[in-house]
Amino acid sequence: MNILVTGGAGYIGSHTCVELLQAGHEVTVFDNLSNSKEESLRRVQEISGRSLFFSRGDLLKPADIEAVFQSQHFDAVIHFAALKAVGESVRQPLRYYQNNITGTINLCQVMAKFSCKNIVFSSSATVYGSPTIMPITEEFPLQALNPYGNTKIIMEQIFRDLVISDPTWNTIFLRYFNPIGAHPSGLIGEDPNGIPNNLVPYIAQVAVGKLPFLNVYGADYETPDGTGIRDYIHIMDLAKGHLKALEKLSNNPGAVAYNLGTGRGYSVFEVLRAFEKAAERPIPYHISPRRPGDSAICYANPTLANTELKWKAERTIDDMCVDTWNWQSHNPNGYD
Ligand code: NAD
Ligand code: WQD
Repeated sequence: MNILVTGGAGYIGSHTCVELLQAGHEVTVFDNLSNSKEESLRRVQEISGRSLFFSRGDLLKPADIEAVFQSQHFDAVIHFAALKAVGESVRQPLRYYQNNITGTINLCQVMAKFSCKNIVFSSSATVYGSPTIMPITEEFPLQALNPYGNTKIIMEQIFRDLVISDPTWNTIFLRYFNPIGAHPSGLIGEDPNGIPNNLVPYIAQVAVGKLPFLNVYGADYETPDGTGIRDYIHIMDLAKGHLKALEKLSNNPGAVAYNLGTGRGYSVFEVLRAFEKAAERPIPYHISPRRPGDSAICYANPTLANTELKWKAERTIDDMCVDTWNWQSHNPNGYD
């Protein structure tokens, strides 16, 4: 298939491009590089031994999107491009609504104009808010805790309405749990701007000596060791889920959501221990107050994706830490 990948230079997009190229698909990446570097795409091509086409453009400029669709016909779009920092979305809600929602509407308008109505869209477990019952199935009610989460809920609703208005659209929303890890080559990985917000990139920078210690945000939760529990999923397992979703598009699914998680949770301390083992060094930490907005436990029921997409996460928490460390230790400054 000929696939357009928006946000393909970013963390999840670049790893998915490797899988797409290795599976024989043609790939065009559309990205404004607002949170990524073109070097990631050079390395994607190095790993896969195949070339892709890169179009630098912005979803907020419909003419940029039209130019890509005029140049070739796409069978489907995988739509990663979005702003994703929760705290920033609280401080800059208009920027988040505009980039994520207006950008998606612009994309869909151009897709409709060029009769490409197949899309796999990056949603998030954040759409579930803070449920108290685990594991989370796709039927759980949706609830946003911040503007970023709201953009995901609104975009899912836009796709549902689009399918009602025109059933020839096929839209799959993949609700990712906590993606971590890197390609086993160590050539591509997560390259956050500034101080990382998320646990594993933060631990990785402590391990490599760029940050002094980890703040463990709360050790007084009602969990076995008191720290927060999440469903971490290896980025290559996540990438494979997108290829399975592309296959599913041909069955005319309408608008459907799938959880992509392992179905198993790990605490902050368990992740810390696994990373210490992978990096073969102690990782200093301090217990800090809980982070506002965090829930104690969050993990997926991935049964729907297992059965309908024939997809299952295979890699362990040790694989995730080994691959993160391989990337971080060989690229202490990311792609710079
Ligand atoms: P990322 O920031 O690494 O990648 C997003 C890419 O989109 C970047 O390369 C950025 O330059 C590009 N982009 C942003 N706005 C754009 C615009 N207007 N026009 C063109 N390109 C634009 O993020 P990621 O971690 O790879 O996340 C990919 C998707 O998955 C996002 O939609 C994100 O919300 C979602 N998601 C991520 C996580 C996570 O923990 N990483 C979890 C759940 C969902
Ligand atoms: C994991 C655990 C923290 C950092 C976020 C977004 C979510 C989604 C994925 C996009 C929690 C603890 C963290 C640190 C810590 N993104 N922690 N010290 O919060 O589950 O999800 O990323 O859709 O929307 O909210 O992930 O990695 O930030 O936190 O103790 O320095 O690690 O309290 O228990 P989270 P995370």
